[in-house]
Amino acid sequence: MRALLALVLTASAHAGDVERGRALVADRTQSLCLLCHALTASGDANQGNLAPPLDAVATRLNAQGLRDRIADMRRFNPSTVMPPFRSTEGLRDVAPAWAGRAALTEQQLDDIVAYLGTLAK
Ligand code: HEC
Repeated sequence: MRALLALVLTASAHAGDVERGRALVADRTQSLCLLCHALTASGDANQGNLAPPLDAVATRLNAQGLRDRIADMRRFNPSTVMPPFRSTEGLRDVAPAWAGRAALTEQQLDDIVAYLGTLAK
């Protein structure tokens, strides 16, 4: 029973929050996603066109696929320009305040994955 409770608590601690994820994706001081990607649903006046649009991304990638790409796109394309949001390996010229810190926390990544998972059309 105790183990089951611990499992449930761990799962809920990592459950992504769709609304927080939506806010993070829209926030240029936090995620920068829309600097490179377009996302029609964001309604943002300035959306990127450097990267594939995130529209309907959940029809192409499941939660694990999204998570792996946001965490570190270099696993799929070593020369990608997308920042590795959950890695501190192999980076140059990192500002002192960010040294040794990933750009997103695990919870923020969960939140973004939860939000992108709702983009099914
Ligand atoms: C500096 C530009 C840049 C930023 C910032 C950026 N990306 Fe990307 N992203 C890319 C590029 C370019 C690709 C195409 C894959 C490649 O590089 O080979 C990509 C690919 C992706 C993919 C795979 C899309 C597909 O259809 O296969 C996802 C999902 C994604 N990005 C999500 C995000 C999220 C979420 C954020 C913000 C947390 C973000 N990206 C920030 C440039 C960026």
